[in-house]
Amino acid sequence: MREYEVNEKGHLVFGGCDTVRLAEKYATPVYVMDEGLIRKRLEEIRTVFLQPYPNARAVYASKAFQTKEMCRLVTEGGLGLDVVSGGEIYAALAAGVDPSCMVFHGNNKTPEEIRMAAEAGVGRFIVDNAYELELLEKQAGRGKAPIRVLLRITPGVDSHTHKFISTGNIDSKFGISLEKEERDRIIKRVMDMEGVELMGFHFHVGSQLHENDSHLAALDILLGLVDEVKESLGFEARELNLGGGFGIYYAKGDQTARLKDFVDPMMEKINRFYHERSLPLPLVFIEPGRWICGEAGITLYTVGSVKNIPGIKTYVAVDGGMPDNPRPILYQAKYEAVLANKAAAPKKQIVSVAGKCCESGDILIEDLPVGPVESGDILAVFSTGAYHHSMASNYNRLLRPPVVMVDEGKDHLSVRRETYEDLIAREL
Ligand code: LLP
Repeated sequence: MREYEVNEKGHLVFGGCDTVRLAEKYATPVYVMDEGLIRKRLEEIRTVFLQPYPNARAVYASKAFQTKEMCRLVTEGGLGLDVVSGGEIYAALAAGVDPSCMVFHGNNKTPEEIRMAAEAGVGRFIVDNAYELELLEKQAGRGKAPIRVLLRITPGVDSHTHKFISTGNIDSKFGISLEKEERDRIIKRVMDMEGVELMGFHFHVGSQLHENDSHLAALDILLGLVDEVKESLGFEARELNLGGGFGIYYAKGDQTARLKDFVDPMMEKINRFYHERSLPLPLVFIEPGRWICGEAGITLYTVGSVKNIPGIKTYVAVDGGMPDNPRPILYQAKYEAVLANKAAAPKKQIVSVAGKCCESGDILIEDLPVGPVESGDILAVFSTGAYHHSMASNYNRLLRPPVVMVDEGKDHLSVRRETYEDLIAREL
C-alpha cells in the first residue's frame, strides 16, 4: 500500500489540500490533479533525458489526459505534444500549443484529419500504413514547408502487459510490418514523394511497462532496420521515436518506472551505433503519457449504499463507476483507495467498491481494506490521473466529473462538471 498524507482531522491530504474539503466544495465524483506532481515528472524528464542528451526530445502523449491547462503545463515544461485525432489537435491549438511541436499518430487518420494537421503545420506525422501515404500524397506540396514523416514499424516484440495495451507484436493493428519487400516499397515511396520529408522511424511497444526489455529489444530491431535501409535504399534515419509506455504504481506488484533505467540504455545504444558509423546523432523522441500524470490524479466519490451479504461480501457503492473509470472493466485494472474522511482509521473491513451503473461488472475495486465505512463517507481512489478523464463516457447518462487542479494547498476548477443540458445539447 502506498503512503499518503493525513492531516490532524484524519483527512487525506492531496496536493496540500484537505480532500474532504475539496469534496464539499466541488461535490463528487471529482477528479483531482496535483499540478506539483505533474511538474515534478516534467522536471525529471528534463534532468534525466533532455539535459544530458542534447539530441533528446520528449512529447507528452495527450491521450492520457488532455485539457487546455494540461497542454500548457507540458509545453511550459519543455515537451511537445503527441496527438492522435482532429479533436486532440483542435484542443491543443486552442490551448496555444505550437503545431510544429506536435507529433501526429493514429492507425486510421481520416482525410479530414490529415488535411487539418497539414494545414495547421503539425511538426511530425507518424505514418502507420500504406493507405495513409496515399492520403498524405494528396496534401503534400500544398503547404510552404514539407510534411515531415516518421514511419511506425511493428517491431514484433512482446511486451509484458495487458493484451489490449500491448502494441508491438507482429499481430497488431498498428504499424508497418518489417517484411522486407513491403517495408522497402513503403520507404521508397515516401522518399520519392514531393513535399514530404522522411525523417526516420517510430515504435511503441506497449503501455504500463515496468521493465525496459521490450523497449531494448525493439530498439535493436529498429537499429537493424536503420542499417539495412541505409545499405539498400541509401536512406539515413535522422530521427528515432521510441514511444512511451513507462509504468506507474496503481496497486501492489506495480512500481513507478525509473525513467533513467529506460532512457539511459537506449540512448547509449543509439549514440554508440551512430558514432560507430560516423553518422551525425539522430534526434531521439520519447512519448510518455501515463508516467507524467497517472499518479498525479485521484478520484473522490461519495459512498452511498453499503450492502452486506452475510458470509459473502460487502458492497460499497459510490456515486460514479465505469463511466468515469472504465479501466477495471476493460483491463481488469487494480486500484488502491482510502476513506478520505477516515484516512487514519485502521482498515479492518474488506469490501468491494461498486459503481452505480446498471452492469454487474461495474466494480471498481475488489477486496479493498477500509476503515469503518458508512454512507456519506468520501472514498479517494488513487492513480486516476491518466486514461480516466480522457476515457470517461456518459453511460447511463451519468455526468462526466469536473477536474480540479491542486498545488501546494491551492485548488482551482479546471474543467467544470457536465450538466444535464450538456447531455442533450447535441440532440436535434
Ligand atoms: N505513444 C503511442 C504511439 C501510444 O500509442 C501511446 C499509448 C503512448 C505513446 C503513451 O503511452 P503511455 O506512456 O501512456 O503508456 N487506455 C489504456 C492505455 C492505452 C495506451 C495507448 N497508447 C489504459 O488505460 O491503460
